[in-house]
Amino acid sequence: MPVTTCVFDAYGTLFDVAAAARVAAEQPEFPALATAWPQLADYWRAKQLNYSWLRAVMGAHTDFWTVTQDGLDWALEKTGLDGDPALRQRLLDLYWELQAFAEVPAMLKSLKDAGLHTAILSNGSPAMLDGAVQSAGIGDVLDDCLSVEAVGIFKPDARIYDLVGARFGCTRDEVLFVSSNGWDAAAAAHYGFHTAWVNRAGDPVDRLPAAPDTILSDLTGIPALAGV
Ligand code: LAC
Repeated sequence: MPVTTCVFDAYGTLFDVAAAARVAAEQPEFPALATAWPQLADYWRAKQLNYSWLRAVMGAHTDFWTVTQDGLDWALEKTGLDGDPALRQRLLDLYWELQAFAEVPAMLKSLKDAGLHTAILSNGSPAMLDGAVQSAGIGDVLDDCLSVEAVGIFKPDARIYDLVGARFGCTRDEVLFVSSNGWDAAAAAHYGFHTAWVNRAGDPVDRLPAAPDTILSDLTGIPALAGV
């Protein structure tokens, strides 16, 4: 089946998730971040995702904003940067203003111009996604933002990937799913979507029951992959 629908993970895929720590580190009032920000960003992201999976297994769902704050608090304490409420607040505020990667607007526009459906499918809460889409200025090249909050569990639960067919009335093999998270791309491949893993860091392939069909270093190749 030809691809009719391109669906994107949000954080790390369309939006540069490390930008919050990187941008805060440029501010003179947070000198301790100058060298610590990459480690802080890594811990923050790892704990945010770990908490999402652990809560899914525990049957203790909360929204992504809560696990984002919880992950940040762990990361700040681990790096010795806790105890500065202004820094914590600045990092959280920046999370609502993440920029899209440079190639994103043109890539989405070429998909839309070719008549494909485009959407985000994300752990993010609707308000977080709305903030990021508006801040990046890509609302006019997306048909929808699908949030896990419609189901009340995080990816990679298969019920989350079901949201795509329910929204667009397409079969699984009409969907190209794109994620920078190896685990998300693997789970979407297992579900039956065509998948592209955007592996900017050159990481090894995750050892999971399915693997992404294609591995890219950025998003510029997505329209060609979708047959545009
Ligand atoms: C998301 C996270 C997993 O946007 O990056 O769903």
